[in-house]
Amino acid sequence: LSPQDLAGKKVLITLGPTREPWDAVRFWSNPSSGTMGACMAMAAHLRGAEVTVVSGPTNLTFPAGISQVSVQTARQMFDACTDLWPTMDMGCLTAAVADYRPVPFGDTKFKKQTSAGAGITVEFETNPDILKKLGEDKKDGQKLIGFAAETDNLKEEAVRKLEAKNLDLIAANDIGKPGSGFGVPTNQMVVLDKSGRVETWPQLAKTEVAWRLWDHLLLG
Ligand code: C5P
Repeated sequence: LSPQDLAGKKVLITLGPTREPWDAVRFWSNPSSGTMGACMAMAAHLRGAEVTVVSGPTNLTFPAGISQVSVQTARQMFDACTDLWPTMDMGCLTAAVADYRPVPFGDTKFKKQTSAGAGITVEFETNPDILKKLGEDKKDGQKLIGFAAETDNLKEEAVRKLEAKNLDLIAANDIGKPGSGFGVPTNQMVVLDKSGRVETWPQLAKTEVAWRLWDHLLLG
């Protein structure tokens, strides 16, 4: 039987990409599958937590004991998370949120004849940073885990984000490495916590990464 060390704890997990519409048929997004978040959610569920998943568009389904709120855009994810956060004990934000959204063309389909063979320019607006907001609003006793997918300066970026977003734990991975990041079942993490501890983990199944991250947060 799993340890019930998250029994009675309310845990919020974000996962998957967000999808930012441009016209009636096109959107801006990324290839996040939501796997890392699903592993965090399942591990927390097995350890006795009351889990709420806020998910962008993915193919994932969860057992009946996990509540799922489905959203499309970063702003919808922000609203769902800021509503839920005051009632939560822990947050684990794995979602690959689009940092920018295109300024919408409108509700109809953009026709290529409109540009008469020339290119088009799409403008982008900044989306809210959900993790940063939950960090700002974090109360005593609440714990917050963030992720960082990087191609350069992994450790430096992780330290910066841990502080900038007021996190208790951050798990960073080099998405340039094979077997680490989007669309693969494994991850290779550098894990940092508030107390200044830094660990470099071997490449592990995301299920194992999730289990160890809860261990790290709960057992130190
Ligand atoms: O700053 P960066 O986007 O790299 O931070 C990644 C972390 O912040 C992840 O945990 C991600 O889920 C979260 N994030 C967020 N809202 C955003 C951007 C990132 O919650 N708009």
